[in-house]
Amino acid sequence: MADVLWIKIYRLLMALPIYVLNGPNLNMLGLREPQIYGLTTLGDIEQRVRSHAMPLGLEIVFRQTNFEGELVTWIQEARDKAEGIVLNAGALTHTSIAVFDAVQAAERPCVEVHLSNVFARESFRHHSFISPAARGVICGFGPKVYELALDALADIIESTDAASNAR
Ligand code: DQA
Repeated sequence: MADVLWIKIYRLLMALPIYVLNGPNLNMLGLREPQIYGLTTLGDIEQRVRSHAMPLGLEIVFRQTNFEGELVTWIQEARDKAEGIVLNAGALTHTSIAVFDAVQAAERPCVEVHLSNVFARESFRHHSFISPAARGVICGFGPKVYELALDALADIIESTDAASNAR
């Protein structure tokens, strides 16, 4: 128990953050197609992410952009500055080889998330360029997907730490 507490304190002081990156149109949450995306704003999601991250001992960098190149730059930055990535690339999910390449190059565990169940929607949303580069994909549970992604990353980071401590 005390060990777990020390690990959490150590992580808070020393560890790199998780980058939670959001692509085009996610700044419109709360206004945009509420029948699909609900009324929660991106600001609300950021707050939920930050509160969820605290007991997991994870620090958060939370960003949104409408520009593909900016998203690519942030994913590249994550290679040196983040422990992992939660990525909702919005429509770039279905179009962008550049985002796929960036995730591959980042060599950091990346969890792809979507608020909506993309498989229950138009067929053009059924294909993701990003999924092959992601550790996993979570979709369809609304804002909860970000929290589930953090839980998944916390497990991945913990098992990586445990493996390197055992060496
Ligand atoms: C989305 C799903 C995408 O198909 C869409 O283009 C978005 C949001 C989601 O969170 O459900 O912008 O990524």
